[in-house]
Amino acid sequence: MLRGFDPLVDAAVRPYDTEAAGTRDAELARTIAELKLVKDEWEIAQLRGAIEATVRGFEDVARVLPADRGVSERLVEGVFNLRARHDGNGVGYSSIVGAGAHGTILHWIRNHGTTVPGELLLMDMGVEGPHLYTADVTRTVPVSGTFTPLQRQVYDIVYASQQAGIDSIKPGVGFKDVHRACMRVLAEGLHALGVLPVSVDEAMDKESTLYRRWSLHGFGHMLGTDVHDCAKARKEKYREGELDEGYVLTVEPGLYFQPEDDLVPAELRGIGIRIEDDVLVTPEGAVVLSTGLPRRADEVEAWLAAQREAGPRLP
Ligand code: GLY
Ligand code: MN
Repeated sequence: MLRGFDPLVDAAVRPYDTEAAGTRDAELARTIAELKLVKDEWEIAQLRGAIEATVRGFEDVARVLPADRGVSERLVEGVFNLRARHDGNGVGYSSIVGAGAHGTILHWIRNHGTTVPGELLLMDMGVEGPHLYTADVTRTVPVSGTFTPLQRQVYDIVYASQQAGIDSIKPGVGFKDVHRACMRVLAEGLHALGVLPVSVDEAMDKESTLYRRWSLHGFGHMLGTDVHDCAKARKEKYREGELDEGYVLTVEPGLYFQPEDDLVPAELRGIGIRIEDDVLVTPEGAVVLSTGLPRRADEVEAWLAAQREAGPRLP
């Protein structure tokens, strides 16, 4: 199944030269993906460990992020990478470090920008632990230490959306229902900001989904040994299926106003905000595994101040 990685393995299995072999490979990939949906206790402990290391990595970054001058996105990437290599196997995926308008670009991994006091910094980073389980966490912080009123307004919409998604999670709930819970709050927030040219109901209509101009992506994905775990599961088992006890997934809504977006007021352009946490599905609902990093706006400000006060540290 994993052909092309190791010549010894390739030599030991039948060549991928018939439709039947291709079908068997696909069947195996699908079966494994679906078996991975439910995490057992050991796996959950691995994920918790990776998340704890990720929390330390975000703290390391906050401790070297100046409030009053710019630093390169690569400093952030490098500091987090040190923690990932030291406490874990490495990063679970290329770190996304988006200063200012770079935060509006999904999967911004060039990281050649510079932070600007007064602007936001979006960091999507995760440590992969020794057994390859990875965290996947995003925080968007105000470089100066304090959100402007407008940044805070957008942040609070994304926060409310994420909370609605988390609150909706429990066994038996459709993956798509979590998506709709998050997206409705984003659409309501966009309406409150005055940028939605239609009503919330019209924007949420399947034929329209106008809000997607600013939300860009789904609410989240399964998490495990792959950052986008279980991706080969059948849609009826995953994206069109229901959540079950033991699933671990991300909840990561965002709002993104591109710098050249003529449909929004100038002051919103270049603002990109995502909040991402990792949650475990239990009979009682979602348990957020990444509570080691605060996510409410005022708590993020207090956390940033406390890290800066503590100062830099080696792992
Ligand atoms: N954190 C990267 C992603 O979810 O795609
Ligand atoms: Mn993610």
